[in-house]
Amino acid sequence: AVDISKLTSLTGLTAYDQGFVNTASTKSAITFIDGEKGILRHRGYPIEQLAGTKSFLETAWLLIYGELPTPAELKKFEEKIQRHTLVHEDLKNLFHAMPQNAHPMAVLAAGVSALSTFYQDSLDPHDPEQVELSTIRLLAKLPTLAAYSHKNSMGQALLYPDNSLNYVENFLRLNFGNMAEDYVQNPVVTKALDTLLVLHADHEQNCSTSTVRLVGSSQANLFASVSSGINALFGPLHGGANEAVLEMLQHIQDSGESVQAFIQRVKNKEDGIRLMGFGHRVYKNLDPRARIVKATADQVLAELGVKDPLLQIAKELEAAALADPYFQERKLYPNVDFYTGVIYKALGFPPRMFTALFAMGRLPGWIAHWREMNVDPATKIGRPQQIYVGEPERSLKGFFG
Ligand code: ACO
Repeated sequence: AVDISKLTSLTGLTAYDQGFVNTASTKSAITFIDGEKGILRHRGYPIEQLAGTKSFLETAWLLIYGELPTPAELKKFEEKIQRHTLVHEDLKNLFHAMPQNAHPMAVLAAGVSALSTFYQDSLDPHDPEQVELSTIRLLAKLPTLAAYSHKNSMGQALLYPDNSLNYVENFLRLNFGNMAEDYVQNPVVTKALDTLLVLHADHEQNCSTSTVRLVGSSQANLFASVSSGINALFGPLHGGANEAVLEMLQHIQDSGESVQAFIQRVKNKEDGIRLMGFGHRVYKNLDPRARIVKATADQVLAELGVKDPLLQIAKELEAAALADPYFQERKLYPNVDFYTGVIYKALGFPPRMFTALFAMGRLPGWIAHWREMNVDPATKIGRPQQIYVGEPERSLKGFFG
């Protein structure tokens, strides 16, 4: 890597890199990716070893604090998070103030942004105690807010968190429980969701994490920075792809269009359509998370006895694309989002909640990067250059005749 930060002042030249394809905006010790080889490691540990063996909160601790927690550290961390799962009663008004059919990601971003107004005692990015408190608050409250955005969209009552439950159990109950009867936990479902959250926990300088860092570089507080990250994740080329994949599979099923015909339309770039859940800026090989998600999809659907034709369509699409020179030449492989939607659907989540689940998973990564940036003495406010292509100087004189 070459440090070109002084390039402009020394030479008058500016590096033009649309979409930051080849520009490192920071140094980071959190996540390593080798896109050519399909390698993903968090703090040195391969994702294949973490997923399924370490819980989401253990992985969160690893990302944020740099090492895996001891059993005592994990217990304390879980207890602290359990104590902060409630959101302020007044914050619930926010849900009722928004249209019932609002997208959960829009509601979630607003809810997280609103945390800055309710928890003004934990906004200083340079006070370690406040940073710790905002970290715990956010990890604890984001699932509550996500579940409330779901409940609100169905016009159902918002339940209080049950602090006797673990992180994922609590979240599932807040989504699917009701006032009348207890939500029955299914360990297969809990484990699958926990694994999916681990698989989304961090992915270095992706669009939303870069957004969190860019906003945070102005010394904005954690809630404001993460709320911006949620909005970045909302887009269909990023986190919104998991919802778009399901819409694509549903369209193929409903229209009766053959997989081959759909692939042909993608290759023709008809109306700019893409094979959603395929391709990645960094991975030019199989996304290692996709392999685990695909196996999880098979397990969950088998355990729940769900026979979803969409899973079959997804497999056919994958096979057809992998065998096709168009996708081979461009090194397009399934990414983490390709099979997640089928699992979330089997768990009972509506497609509009899928990206909120991604946000819940990505949260530890956003927090870890925001914290890393704030203790790095090299941090500067983010401020990209541009290449001006507009009008040269012109004058208003004589404009009105
Ligand atoms: N389907 C069809 N063609 C594709 C796809 C796709 N999913 N992705 C890329 N291509 C093609 C492009 O049309 C382009 O072809 P061309 O050279 O003939 O013009 C070529 O592959 C390169 O594509 P770019 O858009 O330049 O690649 P980039 O790295 O900018 O985009 C991205 C990466 C946004 C992920 C892209 O692959 C895409 O749109 N995928 C579908 C959306 C998706 O699944 N997003 C989730 C990403 S992972 C995540 O955020 C968790």
